[in-house]
Amino acid sequence: MNHPHHYEWSNAVGRLEIRQLEAKDAEDFSALRRVVTADSPVPMGLSMDEELTRPLQGFRDQLSSPAPNAAFGAFVDGALQGCAALAWTSRFASSRHKAELWGTFVAPNHRGQGIARMVAGRAIEHGRNNSLQRINLMVYIPNAPAVALYEGFGFTPYGVEPKAVFLNGQFYDCQHMTLALNEIAATA
Ligand SMILES: CC(C)(COP(=O)(O)OP(=O)(O)OC[C@H]1O[C@@H](n2cnc3c(N)ncnc32)[C@H](O)[C@@H]1OP(=O)(O)O)[C@@H](O)C(=O)NCCC(=O)NCCS
Repeated sequence: MNHPHHYEWSNAVGRLEIRQLEAKDAEDFSALRRVVTADSPVPMGLSMDEELTRPLQGFRDQLSSPAPNAAFGAFVDGALQGCAALAWTSRFASSRHKAELWGTFVAPNHRGQGIARMVAGRAIEHGRNNSLQRINLMVYIPNAPAVALYEGFGFTPYGVEPKAVFLNGQFYDCQHMTLALNEIAATA
């Protein structure tokens, strides 16, 4: 039987396991980031040269931050092929009702199989279970697959940062999106 926070099943594509990532997954997380960035750096918001400078310890720290910070990975036949993560934007209590969805990406040869929907769904569910009221995210545009993915969860746009990154010799804007989870009226 599956643990309630651990999903595992098989289909024609292979054995699929969705679980929370830990510090020990930093190497796999970094390697997958590099594969996705090499394919196209714009969705990741940095160049391959910049990605290559990122130390493993930084990823170990990110992957072991306490809840509601969490990263979820999709493993196909034991290999990490997709992920999605949640992070607090501030350590102060005044901002603890919200988090940012980041690190949503899938290996190019595993796209179109519902992996992003599964891992992003787990991250959103984790936010709901941790009493978050709102999840925000940023997507560098154009990125029709990602925008459609987020709209599918109910995220709506709330602003565009012009010229957010300069990559491949041109500027790209950043679309901000937000999703309300457990809207609770503030009590006096
Ligand atoms: C965006 C991305 C994460 C989608 O991953 P994926 O595993 O292929 O997506 P899924 O198969 O789970 O699809 C879920 C939904 O996303 C949308 N989507 C995915 N691929 C799409 C495409 N090529 N065109 C349009 N919509 C697409 C659809 O709404 C889809 O739902 P549907 O199948 O009911 O139509 C993947 O393309 C990716 O890693 N891209 C590069 C990195 C990136 O852009 N990350 C987001 C940064 S903000």
